[in-house]
Amino acid sequence: MSLDLPPVHDDLAFLAPLSEQRAGVLVDFLAAGAPSTVLDLGCGWGELLLRVVDRVPSTRGRGVDQDESALAHGRELASARGLADRVGFESADIRAMTEPADAVICIGASQVWGDPVETAGPLDYVAALTALRSLLPRGGRLVYGEGIWSRPPTAAATAPLAGRHDEYVDLGTLTRLATDHGFAVLGAGEATLDEWDEFEGGFTAGYARWLLDHPDDHPDADEVRGLAARQRAAYFQGYRGVLGLAYLRLVAL
Ligand SMILES: C[S@@+](CC[C@H](N)C(=O)[O-])C[C@H]1O[C@@H](n2cnc3c(N)ncnc32)[C@H](O)[C@@H]1O
Repeated sequence: MSLDLPPVHDDLAFLAPLSEQRAGVLVDFLAAGAPSTVLDLGCGWGELLLRVVDRVPSTRGRGVDQDESALAHGRELASARGLADRVGFESADIRAMTEPADAVICIGASQVWGDPVETAGPLDYVAALTALRSLLPRGGRLVYGEGIWSRPPTAAATAPLAGRHDEYVDLGTLTRLATDHGFAVLGAGEATLDEWDEFEGGFTAGYARWLLDHPDDHPDADEVRGLAARQRAAYFQGYRGVLGLAYLRLVAL
C-alpha cells in the first residue's frame, strides 16, 4: 500500500522554489500582455495560473498536469476564489498539447520534452523551447521555470540527481538558448537560496508531521524516516546552492 503522506500543498503555496515577491513579478509580466488565454503546462495545483486569471478578468485559464490530487486541489482553489467558470484543470500529458495560447506558464516540467527521465541524460532545453514556442503566437508571453546549475556541479550535488555534470547549463547559456530558439528575453533570474530552503522545507515538514501524527512503531514509520533522511541528505549534503531554478520572462518572436 502506498504511504498516506500529507499532500505537499498543505505546506507549500507553489510546487517550486518561488517566493511571493517573485510570483508577483511573474503575474505582472503575464498580465501586462492582456492574454485572452493562459495555458499552464505541468501546473500542479495551478497557483500561479489562478493568480493570473484573477488579475485579468477577461482571461480564461487552462491547467494541464497528470497528478490527479494536485488537479483536484486546483479545482477546489478555483471554486473557492470564484474562478471555476474561467479556469479548467485537465489531466493530460503536456506533450500532447497543440492548441496555442496567448500566454504560457511552464515551471519545473520541461524535462518531459527530452529523453525519458530514467535515461538520466542531459536536459533537452532545445526540445522544450521548441515545443513551448510552437504554442505561442508572435508577441505571446512565456514564464519558463527551468533547471540550471547555479554553481559548477560537484560530485556530491550530482549524486542524488542524474549523476552527470552536463545535466544542466548555467543561466547565461539558458538565456542564449532562449534567444536562439524564437524568444526575446524580457527578464532572467534564478530562485534564491531562501526560496530553495522554503521549497525543500515543505517536503521536510510533510514527513515531520506524518511522524508526529503516527506512533513510532507504526508499520510505515521506518519508510517515512528513511524518505525524510534521504531528502535532507540529497539537499543539504548534495545539491543545495548548486542546482538552480531559472525564471525567464520571454516573449515569442
Ligand atoms: C515541479 S512541479 C511544478 C508544478 C507547478 N508548475 C508549480 O510551479 O507549482 C512539475 C509538475 O509537472 C507535472 N508533470 C510532469 N510530467 C508531466 C507530463 N508529462 N504531463 C503533465 N504534467 C506533467 C508533475 O505532475 C508536476 O505537477
